[in-house]
Amino acid sequence: MCGIVGYIGKEEALPVLMEGVKNLEYRGYDSAGFAILGDDGVKSEKSVGKISALAEKISGKRFSGKTGIIHSRWATHGGVTEKNAHPHSDCGGTIWLAHNGIVENYKELKKELSEKGHSFKSETDTEVIAHLIEEEMEGKSFENAVSSALKKIKGTYGLVVLKSDEPGTLIAARNFSPLLIGLGEGEYIVASDATAVLKHTKNVVYLDDGEMAVLTKSGHKVLDLEMNQLEKEHHVIDWSPELAKKNGYPHFMLKEIFEGPEAVENSTRGRLIPEEGMSKLGGLESLTELKEAKGILISACGTAYYAGRVGEYMLEEYAGIPVETDVASEFRYRKPVFRDGDIFLAVSQSGETADTLAALREAKEKGVPVVSIVNVVGSTIARYTDAGVYQHIGPEIGVASTKAFISQVSIFALLTILVGRHREMSLVTGRRIAEELEKIPDLIRLILKQSKNIEALARKYQKFVNFLYLGRKYNLPVAYEGALKLKEISYVHAEGCGAGEMKHGPIAMIDENFPSIFIAPQDSVYEKMVSNMEEVKARRGPIIAVATEGDKKIKEIADDVIYIPKTLEMLTPILSVVPLQLFAYHFGVARGLDVDQPRNLAKSVTVE
Ligand code: F6R
Repeated sequence: MCGIVGYIGKEEALPVLMEGVKNLEYRGYDSAGFAILGDDGVKSEKSVGKISALAEKISGKRFSGKTGIIHSRWATHGGVTEKNAHPHSDCGGTIWLAHNGIVENYKELKKELSEKGHSFKSETDTEVIAHLIEEEMEGKSFENAVSSALKKIKGTYGLVVLKSDEPGTLIAARNFSPLLIGLGEGEYIVASDATAVLKHTKNVVYLDDGEMAVLTKSGHKVLDLEMNQLEKEHHVIDWSPELAKKNGYPHFMLKEIFEGPEAVENSTRGRLIPEEGMSKLGGLESLTELKEAKGILISACGTAYYAGRVGEYMLEEYAGIPVETDVASEFRYRKPVFRDGDIFLAVSQSGETADTLAALREAKEKGVPVVSIVNVVGSTIARYTDAGVYQHIGPEIGVASTKAFISQVSIFALLTILVGRHREMSLVTGRRIAEELEKIPDLIRLILKQSKNIEALARKYQKFVNFLYLGRKYNLPVAYEGALKLKEISYVHAEGCGAGEMKHGPIAMIDENFPSIFIAPQDSVYEKMVSNMEEVKARRGPIIAVATEGDKKIKEIADDVIYIPKTLEMLTPILSVVPLQLFAYHFGVARGLDVDQPRNLAKSVTVE
């Protein structure tokens, strides 16, 4: 949440910062601002709204300087106003900083600082950090003052600071909010995530919690808050800048839905051995506990959680291992009972979700082996786990997660083969899953060809403001995911529900104004789904069904049918979710909404 970029180097800072933050806009987009340090001191501009509003505000003005910071905000403390937009500064306008995170003790600090004569311009928690650094400057160097100030803060931060009378230095620091340093030639770019630095460099250093980087034009050092210098590993990012562009698509969301087939190919490439009915997950090889695991605890948020729920069905049915899946925001606050032989598995596209990370830490502290399925290489969750599987699907920029779900479910299929084959799964079953999984990308391509028809369907239903998504077994998490996609993109009420649960309450809502979307492929629960559909029809509820190609029976009951090709039951979620993603996308577009950046949301939820 919130995008931060800092620059120090040989180029004019502002264009680098504007381009960088544009790539991070999916992290937060309610206001934006920058501070540039040039020969005549610091110049700053802020604006409510997206980066484009800021760009418009500064058009024709000149902001020269080779050091600067920029921020796009997702408000936590203080309303969405220009005053509350970052960067924030101290009383003297000397110290400027952009911050992602929450200063939990800001009220106490603000009171103390006010009593000492500091005057505050905003309602944010962030501003106290600038004043705290100002207060600590007395007799200290810039870096010492920053570290002293940070020691007084309780909470989370990814931040970048500049000081007007030290034009050659930029300081970045992290505690629970992601931050990396791009190591360019004669330049450094600090950013919340890699997409902002790719154009300049692929070499990065990830800051860990409690670390601070001091960057000058001639070099950098990473310190802990006690000022001990640390040796940091350099990472190379294997994404090309092209991956972070729309490439002719009107929205990232549509582009990423259409990248579904490649997502499965990239997530499974080199990992399937169909002739042996086996899979190979290099990242998990060292983890001997996995093969002997007595149980798996999956924890994740949102879409990644629903992928985990599909994984739970797969692993229990085919690998015969007990699995429990929980949303990370609950997992961390209940008292999870870990048994000997349990493995904890976190699923996260960004690898930075605060709740997922906290659940992971909880498991790790209890001595449970922790593994992850993560997309962003080098992200905090990936670095924090004992072993893991990368998704390899390139950046996902649309705020609504699409290709990541498809990839995560494919990886769960690989994991099911791996764990299952070390147990009772037969060669024949292993082969069958592997062979069907290999066919999935082409089957997704067939569904994508129906995008225009799904668009027409979305327009037909555009006026409805309530939807019930129904599924059973493997397609129950898909029902939840379909509903999540529609509500986040279109702001209409959409509810996921187990089709068997419908009669225990939700059916009361059904009438001619309340459409239901049934995910009803021909699988082991098909007949039950058909009966539930009849129940809705009897109450005059409009029905859209996602059904298996050639299913005539469904056509007679449902008002509209979207067909998906046949595959193995456990793999149907990878196919059935695609029409739901397209439906949500076209529905949102038909309503004239910004589907890539829905209101109130941000990609990568790095606060609780
Ligand atoms: C929904 C969506 C969110 C994320 C959730 C977890 O479309 O994008 O629900 O799935 O915030 O994010 P990651 O996977 O990055 O941990």
